[in-house]
Amino acid sequence: MKSTKRFYVVVLLVFLGQILISCGKSNVRVIKLASALSPSHPVTKAMKYMAKQLKKKSDGKLQIKVYPSGQLGDEREALELLQIGSIGMTKVSAAAVESFNPNFKAIDMPYIFKNDQQRFRVLRSKIGKSLLLGSQKYWMRGLCYYDAGSRSFYSTNKPIRKPSDLKGMKIRVQNSDIAVQMVQQLGGSATPVPFGELYSALQQGVVDGAENNPPSLYFSRQYEVSKYYSLDKHTSIPDVLFISTILWNQLNSQQQKWIQEAADESAKYERKLWAQLTKKSLKEIKESGVKIIHPDKSLFAKKVQPMYERYKTEHPDLYKKIQAIIQMQNDSLSAKNDSL
Ligand code: GCU
Repeated sequence: MKSTKRFYVVVLLVFLGQILISCGKSNVRVIKLASALSPSHPVTKAMKYMAKQLKKKSDGKLQIKVYPSGQLGDEREALELLQIGSIGMTKVSAAAVESFNPNFKAIDMPYIFKNDQQRFRVLRSKIGKSLLLGSQKYWMRGLCYYDAGSRSFYSTNKPIRKPSDLKGMKIRVQNSDIAVQMVQQLGGSATPVPFGELYSALQQGVVDGAENNPPSLYFSRQYEVSKYYSLDKHTSIPDVLFISTILWNQLNSQQQKWIQEAADESAKYERKLWAQLTKKSLKEIKESGVKIIHPDKSLFAKKVQPMYERYKTEHPDLYKKIQAIIQMQNDSLSAKNDSL
């Protein structure tokens, strides 16, 4: 009788314990974050830092689990999952956002930014913020930008020193109108391939080259199957962190504030890491035997000018945005000159 009683007490305790655990668990929200980048990439490190900050701020109630290396799909798929609320967050290149929010094309234009400082200024400005928040119309709310430096061509067999070298070359591009137009304008044949499939596409000769920033070329190991890296720095397309609007609307204002703060802190952290790891990546790429080429950028910039003309007539609204960016840079440049 005594042991039966003890048995019931144990059953009751286990039952109560389970209730407590499940109550505790339901208090904890784990947000899935999808990214195409590898675990050691500076942007992935920054997102892990954000996860740590958020856990601290929310006392463990809000957590982020980062799924790197395209585990949850390529960037387009991740954005679609985000729109329906199947995943809570994703980090993509602004190029991948163009087909959801076409206004992003303005910052993806080749040679639109005069230098790094101008780019940071534009992204921090009203224009940059309106791209992030304006995406809510498409069920995705931009939280912050991560710096992604500048993109340049790399190739497997033939060096690219001037635009005419691209003739007849199949160049992998992101899923982006601007990237396709840019490569065509330069004389190459644009071939969209998801980032996760690019290593084997280069290895098997499906494409003759691609373009990216040094950390992405290095951490994806694609430099192992490339011979030349031509630093023409044609675009400076940032990465963007999005949260699903469905999830955002379920959070209270305190939780929203924690998430925004953690994202902002991670963006600052990433800027420092980026500079360090870009240097390291270039050094490693060079030491692996890849030939680094410093072409005359002005030849490439001149070739893509017709893209600006085309937007003027075909997409006047977008052209206004592009002009606003250029104007902003000119204004801040002349303000700087005035103060000299
Ligand atoms: C960069 C960017 C990625 C993107 C990749 C690409 O590395 O950070 O988000 O997937 O370019 O070229 O696809």
